Amino acid sequence: MDSRPLVRVATAGSVDDGKSTFLGRLLFECGAILTDQYEAIEKASLQTGETEVNLALLTDGLRAERSQKITIDVAYRHFATERRRFLLADTPGHAQYTRNMFTGASTADVAILLVDATKGPTVQTFRHAFIVSLLRVPHVLILINKMDLVAYDSAQYEKWVDEIRRYVTKLEFADLRFMPISALAGTNLVTRSDLMPWYSGPSVLEYLDSVELSPRQTPVEFRFPIQLAIRPSANFRGYAGTPVSGSIRVGDEVTALPGGQNSRVKALSTADGSISEASTGQAIVVELEDELDLVRGQTLVRSRNPSPVTTTFEGTVCWMTDRVHELSSPILVLAGTQSQAGMISELVYRINPETLHREYVSTLGLNEIGRLVIQTSSPLSLDLYDRNRATGAFLLVDPVSNETLGAGVVTRISSEQVTASADGLVLWMTGLSGAGKSTLAEAFARGRAGVVILDGDALRAGMNSDLGFSDADRTENIRRVAELAKVLAGQGLTVVCSLISPMRHQRELARSIVGEPFREVFVRCSLETVALRDVKGLYAKARAGEISNFTGITAAYEEPEAPDLVIDTEVVSVSDGLERLREAVGKWTRKT
Ligand code: ADX
Repeated sequence: MDSRPLVRVATAGSVDDGKSTFLGRLLFECGAILTDQYEAIEKASLQTGETEVNLALLTDGLRAERSQKITIDVAYRHFATERRRFLLADTPGHAQYTRNMFTGASTADVAILLVDATKGPTVQTFRHAFIVSLLRVPHVLILINKMDLVAYDSAQYEKWVDEIRRYVTKLEFADLRFMPISALAGTNLVTRSDLMPWYSGPSVLEYLDSVELSPRQTPVEFRFPIQLAIRPSANFRGYAGTPVSGSIRVGDEVTALPGGQNSRVKALSTADGSISEASTGQAIVVELEDELDLVRGQTLVRSRNPSPVTTTFEGTVCWMTDRVHELSSPILVLAGTQSQAGMISELVYRINPETLHREYVSTLGLNEIGRLVIQTSSPLSLDLYDRNRATGAFLLVDPVSNETLGAGVVTRISSEQVTASADGLVLWMTGLSGAGKSTLAEAFARGRAGVVILDGDALRAGMNSDLGFSDADRTENIRRVAELAKVLAGQGLTVVCSLISPMRHQRELARSIVGEPFREVFVRCSLETVALRDVKGLYAKARAGEISNFTGITAAYEEPEAPDLVIDTEVVSVSDGLERLREAVGKWTRKT
């Protein structure tokens, strides 16, 4: 067996950043390209009138195949130096290939991002940087390529480095480096070049050969996803698989998750015979002292160091299809060898890869990144991705078409069960006209399954069109809406009622009708501000005497004395208000 350590390298770049040339050149310089392949490429390059041998033809397998009928294996690219072996996971730069970037980078030790020195970073660069940081790739190398086209100018290089640095300060990188190169000319790839005396760092290959391989790749927790239960005869039962982290010895106490059955390791074996200890990456068969009847999809862990088991978790997901996916429609959640039916119960927010701002939307588009809450019908055993890269990643798959919908990392595991959809909740939003009740209600309902809005204005257009704005009519208005909310909450929905409901007695009436699921949310804003905003122009009309009984002007508003939540729209933005509401709802819907 080759004892040189294997370094996994993921590369990414936009379409024209010169990644094919870079990879071709690197493989060529390291002798990974066979002479006959090189000659074929040389011939193809000359035929197309190029002065230099176009090594992009090598990695761009399709193009090479078309022009020269040479078939090149583009899937696996190994090369080696005296010290190390390298495995290149190439991920094409097209936006639709972000999924490859995601899968390639989740196991990578080093991620290489290419940036065109003539153009600078693009949205794709930022997206890739974001994914690489999300996937916690230990070492990130950003190559400013095509330096030959900017006359090896240090100012141009520094400009892009500064721009990228400004962006990545918002992200987490354990180790980030920049390098100026020219893949076409081979500058700074293998040896340092004299063309850029202002650059004093290593060449790409020197870097790859010496970068310290971080120990975080192999967390200590023992995780053994069972791939196969083996039972060749009545008196043998073993479980085949490969520990994805940690190690195990004969005699150790283990637990099978998510079921929770306990036993002890009776024997361990590999294809070469029995062993007393097994570690990460070794293909083994585990025999247990007890007959537990485990199956594929279960994970053996050390009893003292188990993974959380849950039916609800949050993940940051890269969405991989442009087909619209309705929240709460069925999905399959695949994590390791586990597979469970489930649904996305909430799209918490989308992350803008350029600004890193949270955006509140109802669906994710192709390549967009968002935070989701996922619920499964039966428990899964998962680790936080930050703790374990091997057991903290998952895929979301369409159960009918088998299409991959998204790939993600586990960012939060809730030990309590979120039961919003089972128990129902009524959020009674009270406040002056124009305080922001409906805006908040709509923002809250967007991207969340099982939420309905009962809006005072909207219902007054139909169901309550017989009612005016006298105290008695408002009370009747509120009574009807509360009754309706009660019925809907009884069916498991979260009902957001957005009504001025100016008087305490009216809100007490609503609370008494709805009962336990009732929560009073005071959407506060001063009269001065709402009158100034005057979105519907009603305050002006009320002041002019054109509307009678107008709340705040000619009719009273009694502020709630002890609301369950206050959102002051004079102080907080819509998105911050929304965050508070979501947080509160999260608390209210968790079983204690
Ligand atoms: S409530 O007092 O009975 O709870 P509701 O929320 O249904 O009121 O309706 C309030 C909406 O009706 C306001 O947002 C505004 O657009 C409209 N409206 C029309 N006349 C009045 C009025 N006199 N007072 C308050 N709102 C009015």
